[in-house]
Amino acid sequence: MLAQEIIRKRRLREKLAPEDIRDFVCGMTTGDVSGAQIAAFCMATCLQPMMTEERAALTRAMAESGTCIDWSRYTLDGPVLDKHSTGGVGDKTSLIVAPIVAACGAYVPMIAGRSLGHTGGTLDKLDAIPGYVTRPALDSAIAVVRDARCAIFGATSQIAPADRRMYEIRDVTATIASPDLITASILSKKIAAGVQGLVLDVKTGSGAFMEVEADSVQLAESLVRTALSSGIKCTALVTDMNQCLGQNAGAALEIVEVAAFLRGDARDPRMMEVVLALSADLLVLGGLADNIDSGRDLAAACLNDGRAAAAFESMVAHMGGPSDFLSKADRALEKAPVIRPVLPPSEAVVEEINVRALGFAIVELGGGRRAPGDIIDPAVGLEHVAGIGESVGGASQRPLCLIHARTQSAAEKAEARILSAFDLGPVGTSVTVPDLIRSRVRDV
Ligand code: URA
Repeated sequence: MLAQEIIRKRRLREKLAPEDIRDFVCGMTTGDVSGAQIAAFCMATCLQPMMTEERAALTRAMAESGTCIDWSRYTLDGPVLDKHSTGGVGDKTSLIVAPIVAACGAYVPMIAGRSLGHTGGTLDKLDAIPGYVTRPALDSAIAVVRDARCAIFGATSQIAPADRRMYEIRDVTATIASPDLITASILSKKIAAGVQGLVLDVKTGSGAFMEVEADSVQLAESLVRTALSSGIKCTALVTDMNQCLGQNAGAALEIVEVAAFLRGDARDPRMMEVVLALSADLLVLGGLADNIDSGRDLAAACLNDGRAAAAFESMVAHMGGPSDFLSKADRALEKAPVIRPVLPPSEAVVEEINVRALGFAIVELGGGRRAPGDIIDPAVGLEHVAGIGESVGGASQRPLCLIHARTQSAAEKAEARILSAFDLGPVGTSVTVPDLIRSRVRDV
């Protein structure tokens, strides 16, 4: 069918046959379908949701637009598992969950993304580690997964090339926020990576792409339903993004926090909760734990006895980074020349946080991209970000956060943004901290 006929049917919400969707996706990859046609298809899909079968067909066609890794060619002694987050601020859990499940006996080929909008991307964080190659050739990434059990890397041109083309067009045509297109984009790369079990962390709140919880649940259901119909065992947790996850946001600062977490020096309790919940679900999906409780115990044991730390170090070394990175992390990572505390005008309690604004403050500091080719400054970001319900200012001088910036003037601009991102109440205000894990989506 002609591309324009396919777009017309999408615009009218007439059901497309899988062959038509496959032809369109094939044309996206070969270049026979133009950028304008892809943009029209995406906009029609934002306005006219797909039917379940259409979404599954789009996902599969995008996965099959490139190489799909066949792990049965190798004799692996464990399941192939992965975790994916829809993105937030300070969300560094992939960097901890991947080595935990690898240390528990899984293989983890984790295809991660770059920062998007106000959210930080796992690949940009790993780029802060000197020597770590975030875009290895696919064969090298496969070799690292086989040897180290775990590799976090970017999609090469062989993995779901149709997604790469469509994603670039979505980014500049305001067509990111479609559950159908997000589902196909995320899952096509997971299918191509040959993943057998997947746990999804679907964020909700002021720092998430889906701010309204009902929309996040809808996205979680779309992802789980499509993953299951594609033969991937899958569970999604809908988790809170109304505050920074953990203490730090910004590439190198997040790696410092991950290193301290893995070493056992400092473990933010909310981050611990999300890490254990995601790991437990993944271990159950992979048959490495009988139930959620034993999965949590196994994950906690791996963290506490250092096996997860060793798995992380092994991955970093195999990917070109320093050996025994965790002991060197603080010295190996670049530091910003200016560190400035942001103090509230008077003693107060944090009532609410506009996390999206915090994310954009980091982008302004140079820690995110304004345009596609921008280089990220790994050293800048926010440290010790206060959470909802915390007391700040006053005699304790607890700041809202510490800004890490390249220049004094960049720090001053960020300070103004950060002050307006926090809603503060008088001392003694009783504040309800939003629940961290909102719901769990399994059999849909
Ligand atoms: N991450 C992806 O890989 N694709 C999307 O569409 C959104 C987030």
